[in-house]
Amino acid sequence: MTHLTNNNYKIYGDFPLTIEANKHKRLEILLDWLRKEKSLLEEAMLKHGAIRFRNFDVSTPEDFEKIARAIAPELKNDYLGTSPRDAVTDYVFHASELPGYFPIPQHCEMSFCANPPEFLFFSAMNPSEKNSGETPICDMRKVWSQMDENIRERFRSKGMKNVRNYSAPGAPAADQMQLKSWDEIFQSTDKEIVEKKCHEEGFDPEWKKDGGLRLWGTQAVSKQHPISGVEAWYNHLAIFHVSSPAGEYQRIFDFRPTEENRSILEVARSLEKDMREKPPEDLSMHTFYGDGSEIPEEDIEHVRDLIWKNLQVNAWQKGDVLAIDNASVSHGRLPYKNEDREILVCWS
Ligand SMILES: [Fe+2]
Repeated sequence: MTHLTNNNYKIYGDFPLTIEANKHKRLEILLDWLRKEKSLLEEAMLKHGAIRFRNFDVSTPEDFEKIARAIAPELKNDYLGTSPRDAVTDYVFHASELPGYFPIPQHCEMSFCANPPEFLFFSAMNPSEKNSGETPICDMRKVWSQMDENIRERFRSKGMKNVRNYSAPGAPAADQMQLKSWDEIFQSTDKEIVEKKCHEEGFDPEWKKDGGLRLWGTQAVSKQHPISGVEAWYNHLAIFHVSSPAGEYQRIFDFRPTEENRSILEVARSLEKDMREKPPEDLSMHTFYGDGSEIPEEDIEHVRDLIWKNLQVNAWQKGDVLAIDNASVSHGRLPYKNEDREILVCWS
């Protein structure tokens, strides 16, 4: 795409590839360009896995949605993930309503569902303060190819099994890691509708005596890209495993060694200790090998190390749009404090 570099645009970087207007430009100019250069864009997305658009006039959720639709006309709005998310338009959501200190480790969106998104889009309506609240990305093709061969083989041959427990509608959360009740996940209190959706997405539902819902799901640990065929680490281990909050916060603290991050790390460690007292199938979220056995902690730590080694942390600028190929590249969030941070998301 280098031939497109001219007086109007700068195109630079590898991950993400950035297309930046030299001077602030109207949104229509970008939309025109996206329509005309569709095949170049597809090629770049396949190679880089993430493209950032900067310095265009993106100031509302509607502006953002127009850019997303220029790349992926068919947006979706059903969300079966764990993060509480408020809708801003029919197809644009706040990226997460989770408190700013809450860790969001790297994941490919809805990787545990039968129909995960193809592309994911983020836009910064209002970035957070310096050195906080970034949306880091990671090339999961690298994580998979750099993985220790024995560990990779164990994961590949055994696959992965996830369990998630959701409380009954209106009932309190079973623990601090339970973020929603099952009616909030499925947007329905009708058990038949819930079961139908579970079967469509490959979850095995188990209704509990207290009115809660336990979901089991098995998945391969990796995925071949539908076009390039390149394999990527593709699962929710880094979020669902009981060791995730402390494992992630340890690295957040290593990256930003503040007193606050140290104390949250301590809380995460004691939370993990409490959670490990429970039977694993009752945890709000947990991951096993596909045969139901526990995954060794060293193997999980190895994966976390690889993810952080390949992590790309970029500060948001107001109006930035980031487009991600969800089959190759994961995303997460670093902690922040300012309550007016506003990052939007939509997906196809
Ligand atoms: Fe996500």
